[in-house]
Amino acid sequence: MCPEQSPWKLLAIAWAAVAFSRGAAAQVSGRVLDAATGETVGDALVSLPAAGVRTTTGPEGRFELPAAAGAKLTVTAAKKGYFTSSAAAVSPAGDLELRLERVPPDDDRTYRFRDPEACGLCHQDQLAQWKGSPMAVAGENTWVYDLYDGTGTAGGLGGFVYKRDSAHAAASPGSDCAACHQPEPWVREPLRALEDLRSLSEEALHGVSCEVCHKVADVDETKVSFPGIYPGAVTFTLPRGPDYRAVQYGVLGDADFQYSIFMRASYQPQLTALLCAACHQDVNDHDDDGDFEEEEGVVSEPTYLEWLESPYGDPASPLHATCVDCHMPAYGARQACTAILPPLTRDPETIRSHRIEGTTPAFLESSVDLALRAEVAETAEAVETNGGRIEVRVSVTNSGTGHHVPTGVTIT
Ligand code: HEC
Ligand code: HEC
Ligand code: HEC
Ligand code: HEC
Ligand code: HEC
Repeated sequence: MCPEQSPWKLLAIAWAAVAFSRGAAAQVSGRVLDAATGETVGDALVSLPAAGVRTTTGPEGRFELPAAAGAKLTVTAAKKGYFTSSAAAVSPAGDLELRLERVPPDDDRTYRFRDPEACGLCHQDQLAQWKGSPMAVAGENTWVYDLYDGTGTAGGLGGFVYKRDSAHAAASPGSDCAACHQPEPWVREPLRALEDLRSLSEEALHGVSCEVCHKVADVDETKVSFPGIYPGAVTFTLPRGPDYRAVQYGVLGDADFQYSIFMRASYQPQLTALLCAACHQDVNDHDDDGDFEEEEGVVSEPTYLEWLESPYGDPASPLHATCVDCHMPAYGARQACTAILPPLTRDPETIRSHRIEGTTPAFLESSVDLALRAEVAETAEAVETNGGRIEVRVSVTNSGTGHHVPTGVTIT
């Protein structure tokens, strides 16, 4: 700095620099409003799509995007409960208004979940990966039927069979198996039992399908121990009308693409962990009174609360990682949709694998420092009991798993 300049002059220069940077700062600013009421919307995400430029509106719905330069900009706004929407802007712009339309809270029980193949027209990677995941076959898992009513395999009546042996079978003949294992039929008809294994419907065969996850508007975090997609614990929005029924909840927060009855994005940050809790945290209803949060209940799926109580579930911990960070890792792709032109090129961190691995040897080996022994069943008897699957025995120092090891239902 120049020694002979007076302090006043220095101050003036500094002030001019601040004023200049502020002027440059507010390249695009404006407000986010509720389209129906005209009221301002606070805490909404405002972004330049796929550009890494993002801010959050203040309580008055105001935002400033300092780094938004260009004559032809698209600016998006997103918030849970609303469709993501966009407006065109020419920078600099001082009073851009972004209007957010609420997703109607309909519950149209006649709605048929889209066939994953239809989503795959545009989301080829996601479809291919999902098809190789446990989610795709959840509805037809014969072991589940062995445990439920003994019909999964010949000889399936040998061990514990819920319908025959459980004290709860009289009060709750279907148990709630279908709330997690066949969610699509259950959405239309809650509390129903698993279907007959010999005549499974299309919906049951979809397993945990695209829309089972991407139509979930809300998960009540005070009811994580309720089984699966239990009414009141998990809310689907199945809106009526072509403009609305396309809703797909996601975490991009800046996807404004809309197409027919298939695709209209809405921001839903619960998808990265609470969604998983719906089916990966479960307590039985020990006195059959419809409340699954009682202390006397027996925990059958513990994974979500194990995670929440670990450093991985604590946003303040350096170890923090969501279920999705570990089970749906980024795989290098830069496009969420390969079919639109021109496609948006995104940060690869925002495109996640839908392979959703758990206890596969590959996942165990690459993710953690574990000692494990994998065996393929060789004797006829072993093939009979575990269907020739790979049996994995693990001895662990839990250095990299976001919950206990093993967790969940372990049958090996
Ligand atoms: C078990 C729940 C689940 C199922 C089933 C599922 N998804 Fe997803 N999907 C997610 C989650 C969670 C994310 C957000 C990942 C993140 O944090 O970025 C996501 C993200 C996406 C995205 C954004 C880009 C990306 O890949 O991250 C698209 C597109 C998508 N899913 C499409 C699909 C389609 C198509 C299917 C069916 C073939 C499907 N999903 C099945 C949970 C699911
Ligand atoms: C005509 C093509 C098309 C079809 C069909 C389609 N999508 Fe999309 N989808 C897109 C595009 C384009 C995007 C936005 C991509 C981007 O912004 O990078 C998108 C984004 C998404 C996202 C991310 C939303 C967010 O805000 O995180 C999800 C989830 C998704 N789609 C699920 C589905 C599901 C489930 C189906 C089937 C019912 C489906 N899509 C059908 C084109 C399509
Ligand atoms: C609607 C219920 C449901 C939701 C929601 C759900 N899952 Fe699952 N998940 C299942 C079922 C059922 C299985 C077992 C499928 C089978 O093997 O038949 C499973 C299997 C898995 C496995 C493999 C377990 C193993 O033993 O290998 C992992 C990992 C997993 N889920 C993670 C997740 C994550 C992460 C989420 C959230 C993004 C999630 N799940 C959301 C029902 C669900
Ligand atoms: C830090 C990474 C990490 C996080 C976070 C994490 N997991 Fe896992 N998870 C793993 C690893 C590694 C395994 C394989 C070891 C094992 O079988 O437990 C695994 C296994 C699983 C399995 C199969 C367990 C079994 O024994 O059958 C399920 C189901 C699962 N995780 C669900 C979840 C859910 C739901 C969440 C969020 C609530 C979550 N995970 C969070 C790393 C993680
Ligand atoms: C709250 C959701 C939920 C409910 C309710 C539920 N399950 Fe499961 N079940 C799961 C999940 C998630 C997995 C796999 C992930 C894991 O290892 O935790 C699983 C795994 C299983 C497996 C092991 C499958 C395999 O291939 O390893 C069997 C068998 C099973 N469940 C039977 C049943 C039966 C029978 C009922 C009803 C009496 C039932 N489940 C109710 C969520 C549920």
